[in-house]
Amino acid sequence: MNLENLKIIVTGGAQGMGRHFAQQLVSAGAHVAIGDVNESGLAEVIEATKANQKGTLHARRLDVSSEADIASFVAWAHAAMGGLNGLINNAGILRDALLVKKDRETGAVKTLSKDQWDAVIGVNLTGATLMTRDVVAKMVETNQRPGVIVNLSSIARHGNRGQSNYTAAKAALAANTVTWSKEFATFGIRVGAVAPGMVETPMTQGMNQKARDALVSAIPVGRVGVPEDIWLAVKFVIECDYFNGRCIDVDGGLSM
Ligand SMILES: NC(=O)c1ccc[n+]([C@@H]2O[C@H](COP(=O)([O-])OP(=O)(O)OC[C@H]3O[C@@H](n4cnc5c(N)ncnc54)[C@H](O)[C@@H]3O)[C@@H](O)[C@H]2O)c1
Repeated sequence: MNLENLKIIVTGGAQGMGRHFAQQLVSAGAHVAIGDVNESGLAEVIEATKANQKGTLHARRLDVSSEADIASFVAWAHAAMGGLNGLINNAGILRDALLVKKDRETGAVKTLSKDQWDAVIGVNLTGATLMTRDVVAKMVETNQRPGVIVNLSSIARHGNRGQSNYTAAKAALAANTVTWSKEFATFGIRVGAVAPGMVETPMTQGMNQKARDALVSAIPVGRVGVPEDIWLAVKFVIECDYFNGRCIDVDGGLSM
């Protein structure tokens, strides 16, 4: 599919990778609707993108953990862009903790809370699934084809210490990329996933320096990724009409 005139939703578009994807899409002539819980971030992206608008950029508050929000956002985005043929499931959160941890000094045992589990599954998995459901339903109702869905997984999908919740969500998203590619083939809709390694965004900026240095030393290309590295893979998924049902790890060769 061509980027020009694509009508695509990007969730979590107020900062980090979602913001970068939205700006690259608009500068290539796409029509883009970004949704995020961070409303001041959305306003800032609209302002920052004004000078570079080959396509159009629309923004509205969206909480992907709310089914009602998703339904009204999809209807609004369809009307605002005059159609809909793409979705990037990018919104995501972390609530890292070991499933069971014993404090070295006190011996106290701490566990991952159900709230930490539910929050990450609610946004990263249920949110992406309901977004996909409602966007695809809209494309089918309006006979819009071809279409493309891009899921942001993570290399944590292979398993990562301290991330039971995140790993479960991102592995499920990669697996359902296959499921959905099979289910939606009849509608002319492809589904692909991109699994980043460590990327420089607000999500990773809070990481402590020691953990960061250790991680960077394990990355064969010798650096942390930047949103543009991941954009190149997202762009490939959108543009290559023969790419379907697969997840691409973009991690500088880092293995977990
Ligand atoms: N940064 C990394 O190293 C990395 C690595 C692998 C995968 N990822 C994934 O890539 C995606 C983008 O990550 P990022 O690093 O740009 O993160 P980020 O934290 O910088 O941005 C995520 C955006 O999602 C929004 N968001 C959070 N909860 C939301 C909700 N309920 N509804 C709508 N929006 C919500 C946030 O407000 C934020 O603007 C995420 O899915 C993340 O899990 C990131």
